[in-house]
Amino acid sequence: MKVAIIGGTGVCEVAHLKDTSVLDVETRYGSVRLMKGTYMGHDVLFLPRHGEAQAVPAHKVNYRANIMSLKQLSVDCILATSAVGSLNKDMKPGDMAVLDQFIDFTKGRSYTFFDGQDGRAVYTDVTEPYCADLRKRILSSGRSLDISMHPKACYVCTEGPRFETPAEIRMFQYIGGDLVGMTNVPEVTLAREAGICYAAVATVTNWAAGISSTHLTHEEVLQVVAANVENAWKVIFRVIESLEPDRACDCCGEPNPVEV
Ligand code: HPA
Repeated sequence: MKVAIIGGTGVCEVAHLKDTSVLDVETRYGSVRLMKGTYMGHDVLFLPRHGEAQAVPAHKVNYRANIMSLKQLSVDCILATSAVGSLNKDMKPGDMAVLDQFIDFTKGRSYTFFDGQDGRAVYTDVTEPYCADLRKRILSSGRSLDISMHPKACYVCTEGPRFETPAEIRMFQYIGGDLVGMTNVPEVTLAREAGICYAAVATVTNWAAGISSTHLTHEEVLQVVAANVENAWKVIFRVIESLEPDRACDCCGEPNPVEV
């Protein structure tokens, strides 16, 4: 079982891994630098989404290269972390949530491995965009560690890099969003296209614009991530421990093989 952790905002280093080394992977979308190591017999890769220096903004992340590099390395499962603002009064800063749906408001990203270049038009089902099995494992890991998590949350993905207006946040509330961030799309859908199980643990770092009593800053987001990241690591590594070599689930496998 090969697992990758994609570290979100403020998560540029991985703890707990043994025998670590740096790996540069060439893909047809660009090159990707990862860290590789082991944890309790599992091969684990770590990919900081915003780069080692956290210098790549959300709208410039090379999502296709990132997921393709994991595909080339035969990764089975991706566990991602994500910093989010909250528009749901029950999900407050410091809380953790397991994403179960998304609404996409991004504008100019490269969304797919299937651009029709090989004479195929491929349309991918995302009725259940996040892997149900990994989501269950995250929740039971949280329970076993006494770390509470919201079991479902609808993530609204914005283009960034600006934060939202209060009017946008009101609209997102109206249409059923709970949390807002800038990176989960197209990461989650590319993973699905590639047949890799994907789940995300979100940490609420702030009340969204117009709900927050102050203006939003990236520093605030980083501070709240730093204060809560240890719990995210505990949950993620407990999930990794739980992965049996013959684990299978409904979302993995590739109905439409992606060219590597
Ligand atoms: N909006 C968008 N992205 C974010 C936020 C937010 O309020 N907080 C953390 N990432």
